[in-house]
Amino acid sequence: MLKLGVMVSGGGTNLQAIIDKINSGYLEGCTVAAVVSSRPGAYALERASKHGIPSVCISKKDHTEPKEYDMALIEYFGKFDVDLIVLAGFLSMFGEDFINRYSNRIINIHPALIPSFCGKGFYGIVPHQKALEYGVKITGATVHFVELEYDSGPIILQKAVPVLDDDTAETLQKRVMEQAEWEILPEAIKLYAEGRLVIEGRKVRIIEK
Ligand code: GAR
Repeated sequence: MLKLGVMVSGGGTNLQAIIDKINSGYLEGCTVAAVVSSRPGAYALERASKHGIPSVCISKKDHTEPKEYDMALIEYFGKFDVDLIVLAGFLSMFGEDFINRYSNRIINIHPALIPSFCGKGFYGIVPHQKALEYGVKITGATVHFVELEYDSGPIILQKAVPVLDDDTAETLQKRVMEQAEWEILPEAIKLYAEGRLVIEGRKVRIIEK
């Protein structure tokens, strides 16, 4: 059984997509063992409790020292013997202690085609606002392994989504979620669970079935 530790900050639609894919059998052999939110009122926490998944808010406000924050995360996920950390709309930041503890075992979904519209400050609705401002015709989502620098680790999967003339940041965000994020995040977890991801320098090779 691959035990997932999912980290969230908001609505938790990506967490829901993972739960749905487990329930449908697509993510056979996977379970969401624990959820951590960086924000106390996040709706994602309610989604977790509805599905009987242990969850907690571990906020930076309560752990002002970066090392202390990492330790709190390590301690909580350690209780559940988590194998893979999934950042599903996690909008806070941890440090190298946490990254080293789960070396090559942390993945993130980003709502743009990295290296576009990514890096510090590019989270939530912002990448979509910037994509519209820039006038790109295509955007999308990326799943990647996490390194210390924002949105910088080896890319696992990407999916493109068209930008339409009458898009607002909200309509674009919704399309990117529906057509890309909720698809490629579970797909990346499945590939990981099947042992089919090989990190080779900056690249991730996907082993064919
Ligand atoms: C998602 O669009 C996710 O890609 C984004 O936050 C949203 C969370 O939605 N993550 C980032 O911007 C990380 N840089 P959700 O809580 O409904 O899954």
